[in-house]
Amino acid sequence: MSRDIRRVGVVGGGRMGAGIAEVCARAGLDTVVCEVDAVAARAARDRVAASLDRAVERGKLARAAARDALDRLVFSGSLEDLADRQLVVEAVVENADAKTEIFTALDKIVESPDAVLASNTSSLPVMRLGRATRRADRVLGLHFFNPVPVLPLVEVVTSLHTAPETVGAVEDFATRTLGKTVIRSQDRAGFVVNALLIPYLLSAVRMTESGFASAADVDTGMELGCAHPMGPLKLADLIGLDTVASIAESLYDEFKEPLYAPPPLLQRMVEAGLLGRRTGRGFHVYG
Ligand code: CAA
Repeated sequence: MSRDIRRVGVVGGGRMGAGIAEVCARAGLDTVVCEVDAVAARAARDRVAASLDRAVERGKLARAAARDALDRLVFSGSLEDLADRQLVVEAVVENADAKTEIFTALDKIVESPDAVLASNTSSLPVMRLGRATRRADRVLGLHFFNPVPVLPLVEVVTSLHTAPETVGAVEDFATRTLGKTVIRSQDRAGFVVNALLIPYLLSAVRMTESGFASAADVDTGMELGCAHPMGPLKLADLIGLDTVASIAESLYDEFKEPLYAPPPLLQRMVEAGLLGRRTGRGFHVYG
């Protein structure tokens, strides 16, 4: 297997997919982003362009480098455009059926038998995605953190079928090519970070749900009392309350521990479409 991954595909151009595509393009890689249609592909491009502009404004990137990165990206409405990729990272909604369907399709489309199919899943079993393909040894989890251009961590998640050379090639890619720091996790719901983070976020939801403290005070408490960059309810709004609920459900399904059970308030907010920053309102209101 080639250790030099230069042609990358990303499936899904939402916040995570766009962020992953941005870091790949900034690392000089030929990157194709696939969305469901041309309109969604255009929205993904706008997302990456806005983030690159922010990086320039914050003095993290030269204007010319931002332009070059955008030029390196192709936004497509068809998975067929991923045929010649060496690595494809799937970053669609946290839903097992949607992800499985994409892995089945990618297995048929991506031509090189050496190509790696990775998922940015936060909590679903990598083994099940591998079993949707005929190359489970070339399937693993590659879990980035939001905002992807800012946070340096990647979790590499191996299933019982993932081959050691797949892990080696992808860890090399994540560290040397993208400049990220890798931690390894076994294929258990939540991996390392979400298994710790989600119960904390759910505790914060329960605290406001019971009237124990206001959302603003819970957040201020952790920002000023523990020097967290943002409090748990602001962070839940950033991740998306639907995603937080999905991860909690996966954790609860796997471990059956009450601390992972999504509280009723979180469920009702998701049903009400109050999903956090993305929809303008979650535990806080965004203008
Ligand atoms: N490209 C590069 N750098 C950027 C950037 C971009 N597009 N946008 C911002 N930055 C940099 C800024 O330059 C700044 O860097 P310095 O500190 O070196 O100056 C830094 O990022 C912070 O940016 P800002 O000052 O503009 O914004 P902020 O201080 O309000 O921070 C934040 C925003 C980065 C989101 C910060 O609040 C934070 O880190 N929050 C915690 C986020 C977190 O915990 N994410 C993990 C979520 S869990 C997850 O993703 C996994 C999952 O499966 C659910």
